[in-house]
Amino acid sequence: IKKIALLTGGGDCSGLNAVIQAAVKTAILQYGYEVYGYKFGYRGLYNNDLMPLTLESVSGILGRGGTILYSSNKDNLFDYQVEENGKMVKKDVSNVGVENLKKEGIDALVVIGGDGTLTSARDFSRKGVNVIGVPKTIDNDLACTDVTFGFNTAIDVATEALDRLHTTAESHHRVMILEVMGRNAGWIALESGIAGSADVILIPEIPYDINKVVEKIRAREERGKLFTIIVVAEGAKPKDGEVVVQKIVEDSPDPIRLGGIGNKLAADLEKLVKNHEIRNTVLGHIQRGGTTGTYDRILSTRYGVKAVELVAEGMFGNMVALKGDTIGYDSLENVIGKLKTVKPDDELVNIARSIGISFGD
Ligand code: F6P
Repeated sequence: IKKIALLTGGGDCSGLNAVIQAAVKTAILQYGYEVYGYKFGYRGLYNNDLMPLTLESVSGILGRGGTILYSSNKDNLFDYQVEENGKMVKKDVSNVGVENLKKEGIDALVVIGGDGTLTSARDFSRKGVNVIGVPKTIDNDLACTDVTFGFNTAIDVATEALDRLHTTAESHHRVMILEVMGRNAGWIALESGIAGSADVILIPEIPYDINKVVEKIRAREERGKLFTIIVVAEGAKPKDGEVVVQKIVEDSPDPIRLGGIGNKLAADLEKLVKNHEIRNTVLGHIQRGGTTGTYDRILSTRYGVKAVELVAEGMFGNMVALKGDTIGYDSLENVIGKLKTVKPDDELVNIARSIGISFGD
């Protein structure tokens, strides 16, 4: 191994730059590799748009959010939009990626991303590319690792938001909703909800009944608590199964999901709870931006170092993973296709129930 390349794909999150810095430093200082980065994820691999990564280029980026390599969402070279005879069509152009790697003499590719990005990483691995994956997502829903990087910073941000909502909710005796991210998995809502003393946590895995939410508001009133804090994951659904997206962009190929469920919940509660004002706050991409928290700086650094160690050992086709206290790895074949969602009887769900938090079920 002489030359390696990194790429970051999918939605960004805190810790991407920390992984890049650790991987580049380890590759150069410990193994003497030449390191490159593809810009904008797989799109850069397709366009052969790469930049050298040196100790200088990764200096000072450890705690900075975002990614110095930029990222593109939904660029999948196995199903890529290309122009053909004046029309946009989807095609498998992965061979272009493989050829570009060969042309540049890249011996191994470190792919930093979530489920979509790592699915392509697995597919490139099946095509014989030397790939190592690094698990990224604020949603914490990747299988085979205890935690993904980016998650802890996101729950710190959401917890702070809940703390801030508490004081204003109390002043006005309001019902305050905080909508957090989490399309398929409710980890952010669950953990920030416990840490931020929410009264109700609504997650995709436990469909809710609006009447149970109202019951919780009433029960608090009886105890003299005239405000209620609800944290809802963007993918939460009412029991009738309706999937909620922002009406205005419903027909878009890339609908803005954020705000849909929080606004619906606020509108529904408004009809049922006449003695309180209801307010909804959509936390959105604030959960993904800004400064990286301490936990994620360290986890990302551990992942970056381990990724390069796996390259050096020739352990391709694997994803670095946190298992208990140790950084290990698991096969990309095992990781893909099984999202880690919250089990309705998860220990944390039971803990939350024990301390009186309602899941609206
Ligand atoms: O995958 C992480 C995530 O935070 C989801 O919870 C959310 O649906 C998505 O990113 C939104 O990302 P974007 O607006 O970049 O498409």
